[in-house]
Amino acid sequence: MSRPADRPSEPPATGIAALGLKLPRLGLAMDQLAQLRGEDVAKYTIGLGCSEMALCPRDYGVADLAVAAAERALERWGGDRGRIGLLAVGTETAVDMSRPLSAWVADGVGLSGAVRSYEVKHACYGGTLALRQATEWRLSGAARGQAALVVAADVALYAPEDPGEPTQGAGAVALVVDEPRVAALEAVSYPWSEPAFDFWRPVGESFPRVDGPLSLDCYRRAAEHCFQAWVGKEDPAQALEALEALCFHVPFPKMVRKAVDHLGEVFGWSQEQARDLYARKIEPSMEWNRRCGNSYTASLWTSVARALNGMEEGKRLTAFSYGSGFGAELLTLVAGPEAAGGAWAEDVEGDLAERSLIDAGAYQELRAG
Ligand code: HMG
Repeated sequence: MSRPADRPSEPPATGIAALGLKLPRLGLAMDQLAQLRGEDVAKYTIGLGCSEMALCPRDYGVADLAVAAAERALERWGGDRGRIGLLAVGTETAVDMSRPLSAWVADGVGLSGAVRSYEVKHACYGGTLALRQATEWRLSGAARGQAALVVAADVALYAPEDPGEPTQGAGAVALVVDEPRVAALEAVSYPWSEPAFDFWRPVGESFPRVDGPLSLDCYRRAAEHCFQAWVGKEDPAQALEALEALCFHVPFPKMVRKAVDHLGEVFGWSQEQARDLYARKIEPSMEWNRRCGNSYTASLWTSVARALNGMEEGKRLTAFSYGSGFGAELLTLVAGPEAAGGAWAEDVEGDLAERSLIDAGAYQELRAG
């Protein structure tokens, strides 16, 4: 087992060294849910932009997702696990009010000893916060050259018949934060937060409470503040055009289009201009999100993983994180030498190929359990 250097050195190049993703083995297509709820399927597929949702079988949960994604990321990284000095798991699918989800991950992948291991909660923003903490830990010199394992994992379920039901989903994304082989994370980021009750889950309740219209407004406002801060005095159209991709937290794809329309209004663009940017630089990176639904903390990082897959080294992208309550942050990344290979795509493609799409009856049975 390697030991960290005794004295802090220069801030090391930092970013995502490896990625691993995991989706559960069940799925439900929108036509089945629409039939069950007596809705026009176009409301879900066109109105919300959803296609399928990922669902966990009864004997499989958030800890299983997190461990599987972490194992995939660590194997792909290929480093000495003794070099992992920080393990942070972002989730809002708490399985215990005290024991952190990171303890399940540590157990599953064999990490113990001189490791700072903890869980981060801030709705869908928790995974991004964990990643920022890991990045800043390395950049500060406190890591003494060690690497971090960050996991974003959630199972998103609403009460049956809740308007949020078509946006359900599940999934986990794990990132090893070390040398920026897949993507460098730029040190400066652009946060915005405001206290709000847009989406929350009181202790002891199984499903979230949601103020849908307020949540849409909060998301749009957060995007406006974060992007305005990032653009600064530059011309917004030129600044955004220079990006290879813009990734967003994806509660449902239409939310992202609404936010981009709003950014267009703020920047004084025509709707055609905003929709053109959306079609070229945003919509393609939601391909996997459309198949797995809202995986809360993992949702943004699923989109980032899709965008980085095949990206040429040196290309830049943004990642807009939003978590109800509410907190948001805009990050910038630069594709590294291993982005073009997109090794992690096999995780998603394999899981999607192997999963079973259940029908409305089986879904009802699953929910009854
Ligand atoms: P709703 O109120 O039932 O839907 O649920 P609606 O009536 O607003 O319709 C949705 C869209 O479908 C509308 O389009 C309709 O016109 C259209 P829009 O006008 O908005 O562009 N529509 C149709 N389109 C085609 N053919 C049809 C048809 N019928 C209607 N026949 C709501 C929508 C978002 C409220 C619900 O899904 C919900 O509560 N979702 C959960 C909350 C959410 O996702 N909020 C997003 C922002 S907050 C966030 O991102 C954080 C979160 O991830 C949690 C966290 O941070 O932890 C949620």
